[in-house]
Amino acid sequence: MSRLEWQDSLHALQGGPMDAAHQEFVTLTNALADAPDAEELVRLTQLFVHCKEHFAQEKNWMQLSQMPAIDNHLRDHEGVLTLLESAAADLRAGVHGAGREVAESLAAWFGQHAATLDAALAFHMQQAARTDKPGIPAVG
Ligand SMILES: [Fe+2]
Ligand SMILES: [Fe+2]
Repeated sequence: MSRLEWQDSLHALQGGPMDAAHQEFVTLTNALADAPDAEELVRLTQLFVHCKEHFAQEKNWMQLSQMPAIDNHLRDHEGVLTLLESAAADLRAGVHGAGREVAESLAAWFGQHAATLDAALAFHMQQAARTDKPGIPAVG
């Protein structure tokens, strides 16, 4: 199983809340990747709860910073939630390994997503913060 490793040079974007959410994503994805059969569903549920909050926070930042053309980014998030829900259904049906498999897919997904859509959001937030729009977290 390939492990997802946090690397500042690849993953650090904003030096604040977005990076904290991404570090937690890495930790929870690795915990799922390493989960024995009996813990897969618990680990997958923890990752699902994290993703719901992480994606809702990013959507809020997109809206607060009035970022244009956010549909692709939101669709990408929805795809991850659908994948996790599908794996949870498989696990409940007794298909061991469905959680570890989805963790491997998400490890590959994260690098691409962080480097493109999240990087664009972090850049937009940095620009918006300079105009003193309310509710945008301090940037590093
Ligand atoms: Fe993100
Ligand atoms: Fe994102």
